[in-house]
Amino acid sequence: MKGIILAGGKGTRLRPLTFTGAKQLVPVANKPVLFYAIEDLVEAGIPDIGIVVPSDFPMGREQIMGAVGDGSRFGARVTYIDQDAPRGLAHAVGICRDFVGDDKFVVFLGDNFIREGIANTARAFREGSMNATLLLHRVPDPRGLGVAVVEDGRVIELQEKPASPKSDLAIVGIYFLDRNFFEAARGLVPSARGELEITDALSRLIEMGCDVRPEMVVGYWIDTGKHIDMLDANRLILDTLDARIDGEVDAESTVSGRVVIEAGARLVRSNVRGPAIIGAGAVLTDTFIGPFTAIGDGCTITSSEIAHSIVLDHSRIEHIDERIEDSLIGRNVDLRRAATRPRGHKFLLGDNSSLELQ
Ligand code: G1P
Repeated sequence: MKGIILAGGKGTRLRPLTFTGAKQLVPVANKPVLFYAIEDLVEAGIPDIGIVVPSDFPMGREQIMGAVGDGSRFGARVTYIDQDAPRGLAHAVGICRDFVGDDKFVVFLGDNFIREGIANTARAFREGSMNATLLLHRVPDPRGLGVAVVEDGRVIELQEKPASPKSDLAIVGIYFLDRNFFEAARGLVPSARGELEITDALSRLIEMGCDVRPEMVVGYWIDTGKHIDMLDANRLILDTLDARIDGEVDAESTVSGRVVIEAGARLVRSNVRGPAIIGAGAVLTDTFIGPFTAIGDGCTITSSEIAHSIVLDHSRIEHIDERIEDSLIGRNVDLRRAATRPRGHKFLLGDNSSLELQ
């Protein structure tokens, strides 16, 4: 079996972070979301992975290739496949035809995230006779997603972002497929959003009489496309970390709960209440880090309080009196209260930034 990870797209919903980077590399609990997909595939015994990268977004493409390399450090063999423009998920899978050959394969959207991994489904699919297995998750409002109708253990109908969903079963962005998919994707026409939709290809698969099975995801599923989803994913992953202190905690600091302090990090008169992770080389002084917070490598946090937030590498936060909450702060951000008067706010915010003073 082969694995395909779709890592295209410009991540418009995660701007401004994605102006300078690929959305699949935004970290959850200090690890890029894409790495979880690679690890899930390797864990499921699928080390041959094709990653579809956007050649019209060279910065994102190069960052992904730089971060993942040949995949050997994950125990994977990675092949990169260029997509020239965002022509849709069905197009992205279609260009993997040569890579896949006649093998069965699993397609993983690079920003999707499930707790239980895919090893069990992969085993059943590898051994079974079905042509496709779709992971489904019950959601209160599936209108912004693909929707499946299931009858007698088969998927019998699919809808893409329907105004009136026929069920509450959302299609998770992880698809188990065989070569019939390529046949089904042939001759598709672009949808209203101008893309070749994977859901349309899957509908064709059903029309062709292929055996398409549902598999319910019982743990959580997160599509990390938006700021709030990133914070949710961060919260869920932090909750599963094994506590570990490899950095330095001075006598006046306290650490409680599920906390990871990476090597080279330093706590000076600071409190960290888990679940939380403090990246390598970060220095916290007179600071409180509250639950569900990930502080990136090399950050400097002084006289501040941060909770339920993600701070990316090498940012500096100093003397912010009010608690920083529910925030996603990028790399190399400088946030501090000046000692001089008159007092006021002085902002240098990139396009599409969002700042809420409460
Ligand atoms: C895509 C699929 C949709 C699926 C979703 C999962 O939507 O088209 O069927 O439910 O991924 O994340 P998109 O993220 O492209 O809007």
